[in-house]
Amino acid sequence: MTDLADIADVGRDARRGGYSRHGFDRVELELRAWFVEEATRRGLDVRPDRNGNIWAWWGGPGTDAVVTGSHLDSVPGGGAFDGPLGVVSALQAVDLLRAKGFQPSRPLAVVVFVEEEGGRFGVACLGSRLMTGAISAEAACGLTDPDGVSFGEAAHRAGFDPLRMGRDDVALASIGRFVELHVEQGRGLTVPVGSASSILAHGRWRFTFTGEGNHAGATLIEDRRDPMLPASQLVLAARRAATGGARATVGRIVPNPGGTNVIASSVDVWLDARADDDRRTREVVAEITEAARAAAVEEGCEVRVTEESYGDTVHFDRGLADEISGALGNVPSLPTGAGHDAGILAAHVPTAMLFVRNPTGISHAPDEFAEADDCAAGVVALATTLEHLAR
Ligand code: GLV
Ligand code: MN
Ligand code: MN
Repeated sequence: MTDLADIADVGRDARRGGYSRHGFDRVELELRAWFVEEATRRGLDVRPDRNGNIWAWWGGPGTDAVVTGSHLDSVPGGGAFDGPLGVVSALQAVDLLRAKGFQPSRPLAVVVFVEEEGGRFGVACLGSRLMTGAISAEAACGLTDPDGVSFGEAAHRAGFDPLRMGRDDVALASIGRFVELHVEQGRGLTVPVGSASSILAHGRWRFTFTGEGNHAGATLIEDRRDPMLPASQLVLAARRAATGGARATVGRIVPNPGGTNVIASSVDVWLDARADDDRRTREVVAEITEAARAAAVEEGCEVRVTEESYGDTVHFDRGLADEISGALGNVPSLPTGAGHDAGILAAHVPTAMLFVRNPTGISHAPDEFAEADDCAAGVVALATTLEHLAR
């Protein structure tokens, strides 16, 4: 909690509440500098990789390392724990292991991934996707923030060379096993610490509805082609389609130009959809898309649909999860609906996650919370896990 308190004032969002910390923005750069200082103070060997992620090595770099870490960015108006808890817990787990005189027999590293939430550039887990080749450097660097600044430009300003970005086989080969500690994001965990079994298939789709911009007072209702109508039908269709455990959310709508007395000429709507597997996720999105197209036709509008990102269901390594659960004394294992860098890495290296209880189940919101005692239990569990894996 002391380490979280250290960064408690960085990136507070007075307008939205909570924190707005986004990849390579002023705030995230400050947090990265804080991490570098903390890691250096602990004598860890700090090395940024080619893709904007920062590694801090204890006895390395090397291969077959035990790697832990998370991210420091947030969603707009997010909580204090999603991301930073995994980073501070990793540093404190190192402290605990050092305090008891543990000497790892293989390298151990703490990693901070850039732009995990996709809160600035739209695609989540950019750092881990770049590292694993799940997104090309060209596609990632071309993503733009709402001010038109590209990820490539932002990375360049932060001291990274976009031309050197892309799949990093050296970094990938260095990871023997990866464990990410994270605050649980639902109410599924009723004891202080658990582990993750799977992540829902999930993706993001952008719907651009185009109609005719006009005057809110002078334009007769029958003369309108208002893209806000199909946009609002999409919101309702998302709720209707998300049955049987599927989730579909519209959390962002941007009308252009966006004036109270203006019929929008176009509206961008982002759909976040998740379900147990690829088939069900595609089915949900297809149903919503069909409703959106029908609503657009009815209003004389056009719609363009773009899949901005997608990830299939992740099943974490059973052997590793069992090994960790054994070392921790049978912690419960639970699925999650939230995406993580660990989910991206799971396709390449044995990967596991530890969850810390979330008493309210609130996350991606200012009220996200975890008890100090549970966070402490998380640090102990992570230290025990790292010790077991790096012995
Ligand atoms: C990231 O936290 C996500 O699940 O969208
Ligand atoms: Mn998150
Ligand atoms: Mn997270």
